[in-house]
This record gives sequence, C-alpha cells and structure tokens, in this order.
Amino acid sequence: MKVKLAPSILTADFTRLGEQVREAEAAGIDWWHIDIMDGHFVPNISVGPLVVRSLRGITSLTIDCHLMIERPDDYIPAFVEAGADRITVHVEACRHIHRTLQLIRSLGARPGVALNPGTPLIAVEEVLADLDLLLVMSVNPGYGGQSYLPATTGKIARAREMIHSRGLSGIEIQVDGGIKAHNIAEVAGAGATVLVVGSSVFNQEADIATNVRALRRGLLARSHEA
Ligand code: DX5
Ligand code: ZN
Repeated sequence: MKVKLAPSILTADFTRLGEQVREAEAAGIDWWHIDIMDGHFVPNISVGPLVVRSLRGITSLTIDCHLMIERPDDYIPAFVEAGADRITVHVEACRHIHRTLQLIRSLGARPGVALNPGTPLIAVEEVLADLDLLLVMSVNPGYGGQSYLPATTGKIARAREMIHSRGLSGIEIQVDGGIKAHNIAEVAGAGATVLVVGSSVFNQEADIATNVRALRRGLLARSHEA
C-alpha cells in the first residue's frame, strides 16, 4: 500500500488555517488528520465538529478524525455529519468497541481503532475484521511535539503480522506522534501505511512545503535501505 502523509492540524496556525491547508495540499499531502480532544480522555482540549465542517468546505482530501474523547458513541454522528470520512476511536474509551465500529460504518464513515502505547494489540484482535484502520499511538495522546516512543516500531511490525496473517491486508496501519524526517523511514519500514505528522509539518523552523519535502526525502531513504 502507498505510504500516506496525514498532517495533524493540532499544531497548525489557527489564525490562518485555510492558508496552511492550501499550502500543505500544494506540497503534496494525502489525508487530513484532525485530533479531537475533550480534556477528559486526554488532558488537553482541542477542536470539535465545527472545525471539521470548516475543513470539509475547503478540501476534497480524506478527513480522518482521531477521537481522543470519552463516550465517543455520543459524538460520532456529529463528526460524520460535519464531513469526516474516517473516524478512529480509542479502544480504551469504548465499553462496546464492536458496536461502536458498527455505528461508524452504519453512518457511512470508515472505522478505525487507536491503541495507546500501554495497550496491547490483543485488545483489538476480535474486531480486526471490522476495521479499516488500526492506529498504533507512538506517544501518549494529548499533545503535539512529543518524542516518538522507540518501542512502537516493534509494535507496528507485530500489528502488521497480526493483520497479514489473517489475510486482512486492506487495513491501514496508522502511526501518530513524534514522526520526523529522521525516523519516518523506520516507522514506514516497520509496516505503517499512514503517518500522522504534526509539528514536523507545522513549525517555526521552516515553511510547510520545505517540511513536507524533508519528510518525503526521509521516506525515500527507506526505499534505498530495502
Ligand atoms: C497526540 C496527537 C499528536 C499529533 C501529532 O495526541 O495525536 O500525536 O497528532 O503531533 P506530532 O507529530 O507533533 O507528534
Ligand atoms: Zn492523532
């Protein structure tokens, strides 16, 4: 599967979000990753359906909502209605994960499940066939700008093995947190097919196009290694 870049708008400049969205799309990104935080499941509060609706109005790319919230079932309809194409919930926040995935799919969106660094892959073994995406968190959720947890690389490889051994190779493996130009090849090489990139795209060091190019170059390093 093509390795896709999914910028998280969490660290974007919200005073000119539309401009930054256009800049990033001109630089060649694949999806938009919207980090939704409620201040309960994670310490931080970020954005809700309102921002998804605004983004829907200016992009035709996939909008992938990462719900880092308690009781996601209560809010899934609002995110689908706002224009989310994909909705990922945390298994740690779902009492009935199988039913939640059915709800997302019944509303016409593509379901995903996210696992925190401390949650074993076995937690989603029974619902793998119901997923379009598995998100392996490479930081503890709540903030952009954190460092990649090195143990994630082995977990990504085990996730790929768990998925492919069941013949479910259509499932996207997404990784989120601390992905930079220097480690992106390692993350993709372990089996990630969607890379969430926040502060490595939106930062003060360089403009968006330069940052996206650096990430793409980092990915190319992998193909030379292989
Ligand atoms: C954590 C967020 C971040 C964000 C990516 O809850 O999900 O991982 O999207 O931010 P960076 O790329 O800056 O770690
Ligand atoms: Zn995220």
